[in-house]
Amino acid sequence: MDVERIIDELHLYEKKVLKALEKLEPPVSPDDIVKSQNMDIKAVMSAIGSLESKGLVSVHKSVDKLLKPTRTGREYATKGLPERRILQLLSKEGPLKVSDIMEKSGLDKTEAKVGIGWLMRKKWATIKDNILRITSEGEKSLERLGFDEILLQKLAEKGRIRVSSLSDELKEAFKLLNQRKGLLEVKKVKEHRISLTDKGRAILERGFEIREEATQLTHEDLKTGRWRKLYYRGYDIHAEYPIIFPGKMHPLKRIIEEIRDIFLKMGFTEARGPIIESAFWNFDCLFQPQDHAAREMQDTFYVKNPPETKLPSESLVDKVRTVHECGGLTGSEGWQYKWDVEIAKKSVLRTHTTCVSARFLLENKPPLKMFSVGRVFRRETITYKHLPEFHQVEGIVAAENVTFKNLLGILREFYRRLGFKVRFRPAYFPYTYLSTECEIYLPEKETWIELGGAGMFRPEVLEPLQVETPVAAFGLGIERLAMIRLGIEDIRMLYQSNLGWLRSLPVCHRGRS
Ligand code: FA5
Repeated sequence: MDVERIIDELHLYEKKVLKALEKLEPPVSPDDIVKSQNMDIKAVMSAIGSLESKGLVSVHKSVDKLLKPTRTGREYATKGLPERRILQLLSKEGPLKVSDIMEKSGLDKTEAKVGIGWLMRKKWATIKDNILRITSEGEKSLERLGFDEILLQKLAEKGRIRVSSLSDELKEAFKLLNQRKGLLEVKKVKEHRISLTDKGRAILERGFEIREEATQLTHEDLKTGRWRKLYYRGYDIHAEYPIIFPGKMHPLKRIIEEIRDIFLKMGFTEARGPIIESAFWNFDCLFQPQDHAAREMQDTFYVKNPPETKLPSESLVDKVRTVHECGGLTGSEGWQYKWDVEIAKKSVLRTHTTCVSARFLLENKPPLKMFSVGRVFRRETITYKHLPEFHQVEGIVAAENVTFKNLLGILREFYRRLGFKVRFRPAYFPYTYLSTECEIYLPEKETWIELGGAGMFRPEVLEPLQVETPVAAFGLGIERLAMIRLGIEDIRMLYQSNLGWLRSLPVCHRGRS
């Protein structure tokens, strides 16, 4: 225990409370401390709270009852309870008719009724043939008061008494008296008993000085140089603090913003495209044959409304048709089948963001660097790494001397800035050559997970769009990156509103961009 540090961080009020506890005889209440140190009760309570959290005092809390006599209670304390007055009357007059009691005792009707009731209950009298007669118990009671009567007298004398201070007999008497209406006022009071812990005693043994301390450093203190003489308390950086959960960005959104930031810093321009896309831009323009498996209904969501989407200029559509059917001017043979414009018109939920790149190439001349982030949709069976709706970040770099090596360099740099080391392996996409896939190792699953695809756009893609420079292109999955970044084993976690998990995530992450 660092006694010096604890003493240095003690507030003036805490010191005063400790001193009071050293001086006062236990049990000590907050009121005792108020009186002994001439302090305000609020200051005492707050000092007790912080001393308790530092383990220097312990607080024993209990609930007590405070008793006060009512006006009737006080009156009965002097005149006697109704049953006592009837008993005295019986002793003086001998057996009496019940109906005569009221008149002879001076009690009102209710009091007389209550008095006769208690007379019976205390076994001071009996009633037979409507005649009230003293019992031997009653005779004895003429000589001495019951505990309920003693308590009532004490209350009248003292004004107020705590139940905890009563003897056992008087505690029983309180229960009895409290059964009667209108004699007592009972108030619940909370009691605090404060005592020193061993740690608190050790602090007192070491000793400290009680001196005024400065709570603020003012302009005036600095100007006059008074600050030199002021005493400042040590600052407790270990003090307890409440845990708060401020609103924060969803982790997936945060990683999207981080990705956006990296590409902007790498000199890319951001573009957007529609989510409901024509099959033309999603597939045909990317040299994906119309009988390609990915275009089947079980892989792609076709949209009923609108069932068709407007196509671009007739000349572009014709060029794409030619490329598919025979390769056109590209030197390729194409896919050698009859291309159908009706299939190309169909509306789909875009299955990747590569259509944004194709649209961008039609509208912009190289040199260019473009990226796009967006949602894509696939008819997938949901697994720990597959969702039917997820995000991709797409990008292209088009310029005279762009090579496949540049593409690998760009991707490596992008992943490096996110804090990942990836490997590349050969792959196939209908619209690129050379093509590659980047992967990262998942130690928990002992497998490599695919993060994205990339390659150089084929002439069959570029020629109809009239692009004359090489174009390096890539499309990367974002949820899978988020999975690895956040250390989750199941991609679905990103879409479950698991508040406990979301709260536990740090607000920011060490990026390297
Ligand atoms: C494509 O979508 C290509 N368009 C990428 C591309 C662009 C290649 C440009 C060449 C040039 P792929 O289908 O492999 O590729 O998807 C890319 C990434 O999206 C995957 O590596 C994976 O990280 C992510 N992904 C794919 N399917 C899912 C899914 N169902 N759930 C979550 N992430 C997925």
